Amino acid sequence: MNTEPLPMATPQTGLVVLREMARSHWSPLAALAVMRAKVGPIFQINLPGFHPAVYTGPEANRTILVTDREQLSWRNETDPVVQLLRRGVLVVDGAEHDKVRGIMDPPLHRRNVLPHIPAFWQYTDQVTAAWQAGETHDMLVEMRKLALLILVGTTFKVDFAPDMARMWQPILDLIEYISPGLWIVWPGAPAKAKHKRAAAVMDDYLYTIIRRRREELAASGAEPEDGDLLGKLIAAPEMTDDLIRDQLLTMLIAGHDTSTALLAWVLYLLGVHSTARQAVVAEVDAVIGAGDAPPTIEQINRLDFLDQVIKETLRLYPPIHVGNRRMPQEQALCGYRVGEGTRVMYSIYLSHRDPEHWRDPDAFCPARFARGSEEKVPPFTYVPFGGGPRNCIGAAFAQVEARTVLARLFQRFHFDLLDGERVHAHMGATLEPRPGVKMWVTPRRG
Ligand code: HEM
Repeated sequence: MNTEPLPMATPQTGLVVLREMARSHWSPLAALAVMRAKVGPIFQINLPGFHPAVYTGPEANRTILVTDREQLSWRNETDPVVQLLRRGVLVVDGAEHDKVRGIMDPPLHRRNVLPHIPAFWQYTDQVTAAWQAGETHDMLVEMRKLALLILVGTTFKVDFAPDMARMWQPILDLIEYISPGLWIVWPGAPAKAKHKRAAAVMDDYLYTIIRRRREELAASGAEPEDGDLLGKLIAAPEMTDDLIRDQLLTMLIAGHDTSTALLAWVLYLLGVHSTARQAVVAEVDAVIGAGDAPPTIEQINRLDFLDQVIKETLRLYPPIHVGNRRMPQEQALCGYRVGEGTRVMYSIYLSHRDPEHWRDPDAFCPARFARGSEEKVPPFTYVPFGGGPRNCIGAAFAQVEARTVLARLFQRFHFDLLDGERVHAHMGATLEPRPGVKMWVTPRRG
């Protein structure tokens, strides 16, 4: 094979990495940034028990997401996410993936998501109804409640409110289970008892939903509507209850934890950047006004500045900051030799902050996404939703959801950030603002 070995850090660079990590509360993101700066856009991490190949930049992203995607597998058998989601669309390969994705794609097309706008609006009201004037709330918690109500309410057509309290801790435990942990250096580490218990509670919840919907659909004899994801899964003859459980759990986790992080990061960034916050409020007032009626599709489409804020937030804090693959046999990838079984990661976070492609990459600057902006980056430099045939199935859903929820929040409330200096990016299952986004919330109108 006429290829180079993957570049690694020299002992000197290793020391710089350690120094930077110590300076930034042991953040692995700081370590990755030093590796990118000192070793280059493609490198191998060499820690005891952990040697993934890390790829960054537009060429590498295109190779992994499109050109050479079939040389790589998504499934890494011992990863907790695979143990949990079993045959979920996120963690299966080849024809098996394409078949399930073919069933799940249409209900999540933009045209089938837009009719959910009134539901996104009303669920926002449902969460904020519990806020009293002048209280402080953690937006990481509030946005998780909202994202769960929305995801389960619109894609499963089940009201999550009665189960929220009972399911809250199991959901957090399952997210912890799939977050980076001991399993990274000890593949196949056994699940903790609390994770097993959480999975059992979740299974009970999901199988009950599936059984009920099967009975309802059989009794009515009606075809599920276009946007009814659970209905479409049940109507597909090849989908057993076990396979549907795997898809529902995939949607529940991938579809709410990401939106939670995005919404919380937007509120945090607008809490820090008051000029941008004022511009969002002015735009919402001009386009939507003060009324309680849900906005039209046309109004949602006109929230240009809010859209730039959402895009810039996804650039700085991509909720999925890295995509994981596995190299099934030794092969060349972008001219470097990658050994059999190596974990391959494309770092969305590093691509989004690459000084070679972005002007002032660490600065919050929504205008870089304005129509006609002079800042142009090559395709596949900005990949918050991945790319190619296995891009995020919920990309349209997440963007319409974010615009509608944020428009309603800023139409009705003033948000003041408290303890903003303590907020840092934490690498859990998603990139989250920890320890949370504490905000002082006051209604704008009497
Ligand atoms: C801000 C919100 C979101 C972000 C940033 C995001 C990001 C991503 C990314 C980067 C990928 C590709 C990962 C890779 O290449 O390895 C992905 C895949 C996926 N996302 Fe999302 N996502 C979001 C919201 C959602 C929502 C709302 C849903 C469900 C309604 C969803 C369901 C999925 C699924 C099922 C996949 C796997 C697709 C496949 O492999 O065919 N995501 N997401």
